[in-house]
Amino acid sequence: MGVSNIFNPASLCLLKSNVRQTQRPIRSFEGNQKGLIMATFSSSPSTVSVEHVNQKLSGDSFIRPHLRKLSPYQPILPFEVLSAKLGRKPEDIIKLDANENPYGPPPEVLEALGSLKFPYIYPDPESRQLRAALAEDSGIESDYILVGCGCDELIDLIMRCVLDPGDKIVDCPPTFTMYEFDAGVNGAQVIKVPRKPDFSLNIEAIAEAVEHEKPKCIFLTSPNNPDGSIISDEVLLKILDMPILVVLDEAYIEFSGNESRMQWVKKHDNLIVLRTFSKRAGLAGLRVGYGSFPLSIIEYLWRAKQPYNVSVAAEVAACAALQNPNW
Ligand SMILES: Cc1ncc(COP(=O)(O)O)c(C=O)c1O
Repeated sequence: MGVSNIFNPASLCLLKSNVRQTQRPIRSFEGNQKGLIMATFSSSPSTVSVEHVNQKLSGDSFIRPHLRKLSPYQPILPFEVLSAKLGRKPEDIIKLDANENPYGPPPEVLEALGSLKFPYIYPDPESRQLRAALAEDSGIESDYILVGCGCDELIDLIMRCVLDPGDKIVDCPPTFTMYEFDAGVNGAQVIKVPRKPDFSLNIEAIAEAVEHEKPKCIFLTSPNNPDGSIISDEVLLKILDMPILVVLDEAYIEFSGNESRMQWVKKHDNLIVLRTFSKRAGLAGLRVGYGSFPLSIIEYLWRAKQPYNVSVAAEVAACAALQNPNW
């Protein structure tokens, strides 16, 4: 879909037959010693093409229109930059601006990273060892689990698989701002349903937004960043009854004393649960997130994800962290 193989004689015929006799296709070929050929074709009339070439196009005219209006994500300063800016040693700074775990990873992680066997080989595209360890840790079979380069990658991957440009998502601020940012990157509209003054979700307003705006998915965070509020089973079930995909972000679940809802995806075909090693195991710098997904959804994420999205070091570190789950 969307790909034509210009070296396939059949598709070449197709290309030629699309060109009217009077419109000579402009072609350029570049070959190299190894026989690799790059070809570009244009089926538009040569006069138009020449004009096109003569036009001075600025780089941003190639950028997708919705991205030209996108405000960049405000990332935090890396430790070394912050340290130089403040004139303090990194070990004298307690960073609180990105909710990193200030205690770092358990000792098992540093030990495992110090004896990496195969850093020169691409990682397992299916992160099999880690998914098996996560199945044991979470109590849900590894078929339901997908691992990513941080929870952030999974948020973007879900949006890429679910949203067409112009589709809508529901966001409930104040909350993690990545949902809004990724929606912008994916050309989606954000319907904001602010939380109540006590930070609880406004269920009535969410139901109204779902009915009138017909959004495709809602991003919920429990415990919520920044206030730590929890979504009760009752409220979550009410939202799951709505015709919308619910993405429940449990980045901080280990700090709440509450059970994860990872296993709920077996009963609810419109629920995705996301978690991360950044907070629970102090691995923010290694980028490992994971989630449980209904089987009817996970299949498509497997197809769309980058094959080597979880590095060898990240998988080894996460497996080692799971040996010490109470860290
Ligand atoms: C609610 C929430 N979800 C996800 C993340 C990011 O997780 P990761 O580091 O796995 O990308 C954060 C980071 O602050 C967060 O607050």
